[in-house]
Amino acid sequence: MVATPTEPKPLDILILAAGLGTRMRSSLAKVLHEVDGRPLISHVCRTAAALGPAKIYVVVGHQGGDVSKAVLQELAEDQAVFVEQKEQLGTGDAVNSARGFLHDRDSTLLILSGDVPLIRPETLAGLIQQHHSHRGRGASCTMLTVKLKDPTGYGRIVRGDDGAFERIVEQKDATDEERDIREINAGIYCFDTKKLFAALNSVQNNNSQGEYYLTDVPALLKAAGDDVSIFQHADTQEIEGVNNRAQLADIERMVRRRTLSRLMLDYGVTFIDPKTAYVSEAAKIGRDTVIYPNVTIEGKTEIGDGCTIRSGSRIANSIIGRNVEVRDNCLIVDSSVSDGVAIGPMAHLRGHAEIGPEARIGNFVEVKKSKIGRGTKASHLTYLGDATIGENTNIGAGTVTCNYDGVRKNETHIGNNVKIGSDTMLVAPVSVGDGATTAAGSVVIDDVPSDTLVAGVPAKVKKKLNVKDAG
Ligand code: UD1
Ligand code: MG
Repeated sequence: MVATPTEPKPLDILILAAGLGTRMRSSLAKVLHEVDGRPLISHVCRTAAALGPAKIYVVVGHQGGDVSKAVLQELAEDQAVFVEQKEQLGTGDAVNSARGFLHDRDSTLLILSGDVPLIRPETLAGLIQQHHSHRGRGASCTMLTVKLKDPTGYGRIVRGDDGAFERIVEQKDATDEERDIREINAGIYCFDTKKLFAALNSVQNNNSQGEYYLTDVPALLKAAGDDVSIFQHADTQEIEGVNNRAQLADIERMVRRRTLSRLMLDYGVTFIDPKTAYVSEAAKIGRDTVIYPNVTIEGKTEIGDGCTIRSGSRIANSIIGRNVEVRDNCLIVDSSVSDGVAIGPMAHLRGHAEIGPEARIGNFVEVKKSKIGRGTKASHLTYLGDATIGENTNIGAGTVTCNYDGVRKNETHIGNNVKIGSDTMLVAPVSVGDGATTAAGSVVIDDVPSDTLVAGVPAKVKKKLNVKDAG
């Protein structure tokens, strides 16, 4: 009879995220510190979700409310289960706090650390695969290890003369000889769930930190005659943990380097100085776009082909079309810019500003929650807030939409082919019709009919414009 392969057990995932992270010297819980603009815990949750487990259990403690909120940014409410660890007595105790949920589950439990953010789903799939197939029947525990040039700080993997796993020894408990071992524990393991919880009952805290170590469990399982296997991985960067700010900065740098190489090699983006370009992993940038030094591109920003982004600019969660020039020191947040537009230097777009094709937003111009039509120009020293502006209109230097009356924000509507003279105050709510002109220094408190010239304080209609005047 042909033996039918046994179905692998269902997968559960447990993420450890209750620690304060004393070595961070921070009042913020460690897993809330950010890499690539997102909390560490969010990276781990996204990776966990990619494996499609039944449930993801997250052990929370320090700032548990905020950590849970960050988790729910990544996971659906019915996928995440929060487990509280009241006192942080060590990683073994952290796992033990999920006993009520998990101890009698006939599953494979993948344990991840909230402070190891770069691990990839593909690597974890390899770990799980080896765990299920070890010696044809599966192991009770499979741990992820790597060999590091500098293993300082990590738990070391002690192997016997036959090369088989013996135990994990923590840095603080290790002898000098053990500290020379370069193979380290990544803090990521698969366990047979029932066996893990049975073994946790025997974990003691008689070590240099007085903590209950999860790392004692594999040796306990081995002593009980169970199979413990090691999945040694080659990529050392993926398993880097964050225990202090220097490691946080290292990881940020690694993520950034990975993002920039992808953009340069696969997408044809030029970075004049990749060392000073900060681009989020989620950003998309088109071919032949040139990014000058000291540019920051955050969140889900998309930049089209053939753009130039000059030094000192920051673009966050915005859509930039093709052939756009963003000159030096601009701030563009939650906004969209169409093809062929020139922005800046020193312009500020925010609150869903929408800039139409071929428009021009010049120096010291702020645009908030406004739509600017095709070919319209606001070249100097202007505030446009809560405004809708048509096509081919010219906004003179020093124009202000006075949108706030102290209580509410009011709208300004400006038509096509309008000329707003320098230093015009548009006291909203107000509208200016197509083809109208406001003289320099006008304070416009009433709607301006199409094709008329207004002037003065407050501005009065002076004359109806004929086509020649308007041109
Ligand atoms: C741990 C491992 C070490 C491994 C390293 C890999 C132990 C004892 N040591 O050390 O072998 O090389 O990870 O990065 O497991 N946590 C809790 N509750 C606690 C304590 C910790 O939830 O009571 C969480 C932390 O928030 C963190 C994770 O567990 O996300 C790991 O804890 P940490 O203190 O960073 O352990 P390491 O010293 O890095
Ligand atoms: Mg750690």
